[in-house]
Amino acid sequence: MEKEKLKALLDDMSLKEKADQMLQLMGAFYQEDKEGILTGPARDMGVGEEDIQLAGSILGTYGAGKLKKLQKEYMEKQPHHIPMLFMMDVIHGMKTVFPMPLAQGAAFDPELSEKCAAAAAKEAAVSGLHVTFSPMVDLVRDARWGRVMESTGEDPYLNSRLAQAQVKGFQGEDMGAPYKVCSCIKHFAAYGGAQAGRDYNTVELCEHTLRDFYLPSYKAGIDAGAGMVMTSFNTVNGIPASTNKWLMRDVLRKEMGFDGVLISDFSAILETVAHGHSKDEADAARKALEAGVDIDMMTSVYSANLCKLVEEGVVDEALIDEGVMRILELKNRLGLFENPYKDADEEEEKTVILCKEHRNLAREAAGKSFVLLKNEGILPAAPGKKTAFIGPYTDNKEIISSWAILGDVASCVTIKEAAEKVFDPGLTTFCSGSPVLSERELKGLVGFGPGKPVSVSEEEQEKLLQEAVEAAKEVELVIMPLGEHYLQSGEATSRGMIDLPEAQVRLLREVAKVNENIAVVLFTGRPLDLREVSRIARSVLVVWLPGTEGGAAAVDVLTGKVNPSGKLPMSFPYCTGQIPVHYNAYSTGRPDNVGEVRFRSKYIDIPNEPLYPFGYGLSYTKFEISPVKLSGGVVTDEKAVTASVTVKNTGERAGTEVVQLYLQDIAASVVRPVKELKGFVKAELEAGEEKEITFVIDEPMLRFLRADGTVGSEEGEFNLFIGNSSDTDNQAKFRYES
Ligand code: NOJ
Repeated sequence: MEKEKLKALLDDMSLKEKADQMLQLMGAFYQEDKEGILTGPARDMGVGEEDIQLAGSILGTYGAGKLKKLQKEYMEKQPHHIPMLFMMDVIHGMKTVFPMPLAQGAAFDPELSEKCAAAAAKEAAVSGLHVTFSPMVDLVRDARWGRVMESTGEDPYLNSRLAQAQVKGFQGEDMGAPYKVCSCIKHFAAYGGAQAGRDYNTVELCEHTLRDFYLPSYKAGIDAGAGMVMTSFNTVNGIPASTNKWLMRDVLRKEMGFDGVLISDFSAILETVAHGHSKDEADAARKALEAGVDIDMMTSVYSANLCKLVEEGVVDEALIDEGVMRILELKNRLGLFENPYKDADEEEEKTVILCKEHRNLAREAAGKSFVLLKNEGILPAAPGKKTAFIGPYTDNKEIISSWAILGDVASCVTIKEAAEKVFDPGLTTFCSGSPVLSERELKGLVGFGPGKPVSVSEEEQEKLLQEAVEAAKEVELVIMPLGEHYLQSGEATSRGMIDLPEAQVRLLREVAKVNENIAVVLFTGRPLDLREVSRIARSVLVVWLPGTEGGAAAVDVLTGKVNPSGKLPMSFPYCTGQIPVHYNAYSTGRPDNVGEVRFRSKYIDIPNEPLYPFGYGLSYTKFEISPVKLSGGVVTDEKAVTASVTVKNTGERAGTEVVQLYLQDIAASVVRPVKELKGFVKAELEAGEEKEITFVIDEPMLRFLRADGTVGSEEGEFNLFIGNSSDTDNQAKFRYES
């Protein structure tokens, strides 16, 4: 539809009709039992029948047949036959689940993430959906926060590359094209900065840190064309994001150039009352509208107040028109005025969802996301040797993931199912050895509903343990699939201690008493404190929450069919007390390697370094990286220099190394991080093969937020590092002269 026609449509809409375009309800409000809804949830929420009939979008329901019917009935009643938008959290897959976002961060592979997002978009689109609330691009530094699993990690550059890739995968060039959905960048802004890792907690960041570290990934997603942005629950500079005019009008819209639809997070506008920023719901509605929030997710703050506020002359109707126009434009970009059902297709649901192609991609992506933290020569496993798989994740479909609400659990491949196809049945045993969580830990999952694990009696636990110890005695290799419960990560799952669940620690200790050849396969949504696990196990493979093909991918890597190549996208702290620990920290005036030992910036009981740093990860082969060669010593505005290394696979099998480029601006108008990732290349090398890897260092790469508030570069010396982890000291120096 042409812009003038949209404008004419807007002009013809009543105030109520417009205000309700800005209302988003749950799909449950449109179920058959209309009376039950009106006298129950709708009444409690303060929305009436008219609002339900006029709401511009719904969230959380899917299915081609269901949504086509819903759309048809809705449009018949909508005074201007405006189609409705269907939105849902399709985060890292729909029915086919790909590795969780932090795992995708570990793959350091934007192309792969783009493919995963495109496959998720296709399953979502044929199921009738138009928008996905993804990707979450919040930078994270605190492993206590359960939502780190939804992020791609602690680095602004990696996060930005993956934000762009995912938006491209979901939307393509044109979100109206077949099998594409609109992508929604979230949570604007700095939701990942929750103090002490407690979800929904205050965020305290100075503007410099906000801009330098936290904002770039949102900007990257917006530049990639994301049609929507979601507000965050937290405050930014003391003002809740959802009513923060400076953040939304000045930063998001003016500076970042975002002209799409801004949606609140679930009830976030209403929560500004609890925050103590809005005095009541009407005040919250006015403030959010003035901040330019276009859709109120699942409260009646807009629908119950906007018309009144206009009639009383408190808000200008033009602000409502502006928001509604953006919503209509989004519907138009999706092509809904021409075809309100878009790609919804019952037949295609059958062929697209969980198709072979998507499952193969899920397996490839999972394999590429695994990070080998330690290996004292016991992996890869030889399927002809006597092997015991011991651990609660040996035959457990919950490895599919957390926050994959539509994931098809039944079709998830477990480690046992995959291993039975490869390992010699006469030589291989499988047992769980312990429950995932102890009785005490289960108490923390109050309110988690049906997915919550059931408790196992002490007697039963002893039996499981004894069976495991007996099995371990008999074999040459013990593979232990251990980890967090999937409900221990995701929204509202902050943890004060990031240890492996206690029943599993006991199991590991007991097994180690009878067999020292232990390879731990670690399922986790977050970095954990792995001191004991690393000490006991001879090999540790982090497989995150790997998705539908997780078990198959784990067996691929355990047997060496796939050589691990993942790198940590987030530091694994030495212990909880070290958090936040991230590689791109600022230099202090008293670094730990200079000056009198007593008065350095350090702990007296633990090291400063994390147990495993950002960018770290091993392979079954060995790589050597040569010293850095620079094409020149000076970068200018006109002249770039190149920095090259030769990477050689010195081992006996093919493998992939992620070669990483870091810079340090040695002295600047504001203190700069000790290292910043500026580029990476995945080098695939046959045994014995070598390749030259070259990075171009140009002026834009040196820019940062300067002391005067402008973005630009500053003359001076830089350290440059190229290596296979953020702790590399393979260094060269150059100057920048303007
Ligand atoms: C709340 C979460 O914070 C957000 O990420 C999600 O998209 C919405 N709920 C909708 O489910």
